[in-house]
Amino acid sequence: MKKKLIIANWKMSPSSLAEAEQILDSVDEYLGSLNETELSLIFCPPFVFTEEIGKLLRTSHLEHQAELGAQDVFWEDKGADTGEISGPMLRKLGVRYVIIGHSERRWKLGESDEVVNKKLKAALRNELTPIVCVGERIRDKNFKKFLKNQVFATFAGLTPDDLRKCIIAYEPVWAISSNLGAKPDTPESAIESIAVIKEKLSASPCLYGGSVNSGNVRSFLSKEEIDGVLVGGASVNKEEFVKILSVIQEII
Ligand code: PGA
Repeated sequence: MKKKLIIANWKMSPSSLAEAEQILDSVDEYLGSLNETELSLIFCPPFVFTEEIGKLLRTSHLEHQAELGAQDVFWEDKGADTGEISGPMLRKLGVRYVIIGHSERRWKLGESDEVVNKKLKAALRNELTPIVCVGERIRDKNFKKFLKNQVFATFAGLTPDDLRKCIIAYEPVWAISSNLGAKPDTPESAIESIAVIKEKLSASPCLYGGSVNSGNVRSFLSKEEIDGVLVGGASVNKEEFVKILSVIQEII
């Protein structure tokens, strides 16, 4: 099986650095118990913990298995932009990856495809690997058309070389946050969407995200078309996250 990527999107959790450290300690302990592993992780903590998490990742078993990511970036590199964080700032903290266009930003905060596109270009300009989220809001008869349009607008103006540098996360909006009542997609229907995405982005790895847990991660990752998972809620539950990793460890 080819290498699978696991992205932990901590969103606006945990509530303290001490709790964040406990999550990393659990993962570190688990990795330390393995003779060898191909697990490949990216942690995307809230901005306020970025620097500390970066340090912890460099001083543990996580050093070889995990990279530091951020959950967003502003589209300008400098300027008078209250509340925003720039690509160069992230780079200085050792961030290598950044989530762009998460549905919670698109739909709760009104980020348009145009804004997402500008942020994507900022990430690439600053040599941050973008983890670009796409996905339909509702699974109706028009979902393929919706996805095509979203992908087209999100990646507008990028060269084939730029596209190759992106990681795609297919996250159907209706499947995100099982703790708020959502149901995960099925691997079969996720693959149908990934095929639409791959029409434009054939060279980019494509992950699935939306209510991934230790009970369903195997079914998603056993599909050749799914190159990894983006885990939200379950990635800040240390027991559940380690369980997810142990299932993945069994199948890679
Ligand atoms: P979830 O979130 O795993 O809690 O559904 C995934 C995401 O929003 O990235």
